[in-house]
Amino acid sequence: MWRFLQISDLHFGEAPYPHAINQSMHRQIPEIMHCLRKDARELEPDFLVATGDLANQKGCDPVFAARDLLDFLDLPYYPVGGDADFQEAESRTWFIDAYSGHLPLADTVYSFTHKNLHFCVLDPWRLWPDGSLAPIMPSDESREEVWALPPHQLRWLEDDLSSHQDFPTVVLVHYPVLPVPEHRGPCDDGKPRGRMVKEHLLLELLANHKQVKLILTGHSHYHSIRSHKGLIEINTGSLIEYPIEYRDFHVYEDRVEVYTLGLSNEAFAGESLIEGREWPRGRAEDRESVIPLD
Ligand SMILES: [Fe+2]
Repeated sequence: MWRFLQISDLHFGEAPYPHAINQSMHRQIPEIMHCLRKDARELEPDFLVATGDLANQKGCDPVFAARDLLDFLDLPYYPVGGDADFQEAESRTWFIDAYSGHLPLADTVYSFTHKNLHFCVLDPWRLWPDGSLAPIMPSDESREEVWALPPHQLRWLEDDLSSHQDFPTVVLVHYPVLPVPEHRGPCDDGKPRGRMVKEHLLLELLANHKQVKLILTGHSHYHSIRSHKGLIEINTGSLIEYPIEYRDFHVYEDRVEVYTLGLSNEAFAGESLIEGREWPRGRAEDRESVIPLD
């Protein structure tokens, strides 16, 4: 057995995350990362994946500061970009510069193989009301925020999966692909948190590559585990919001087991909770699962 970890949505920056469901612990990110570093050291994962919204401020400096925080964990890791990371025309260039020591190639779309698993990282673009796709976040917050995969990424994914057919595969993408789960409760602002649209294009492509077993996502700040025609989507909550947890994947030859772990310092979870908003921790079936690989 070998293991890897997933964290998501650090939103590192000076401002509190404005759309938090519970208390956003942004001021305690250094303490949270200290605790995670200590806890992760005992688990001895092969690596960690961070599924987007790593920095939450405009400009170059927060991108590098978030990179330094992840470097502090002292683990190999793979970064995935999200809408909060890509707010400006230069954002992807900064992201690639900051994470050059962790990306297998100078791109926000990439793949890698580790032991018996293959991983594909995607970077959807914003879909505008006129149907066009643009790589950066919208400036008009009154509009619903939706993202879709540009055709060239779908072609890249088709080629990559075709050339790695023998490996069970995990797709990493910031935005959940499946519809909002039933256990999702209300947010303060009442707005949907945005989603991937034209998702049928991705799901149809993946259906033709049965080696794809898992999609790992973030963005929504709650835990869910759902299935769609044999494909499992695991959405992981924010590391700075209740319940301040991460995922632990145990990889065997014939299966992946996923567990949901809190920090050894339980005070973070307690302080982050607003009474009555326990739902982001998910139901029992959103916290553990076994995914067959054959
Ligand atoms: Fe996001």
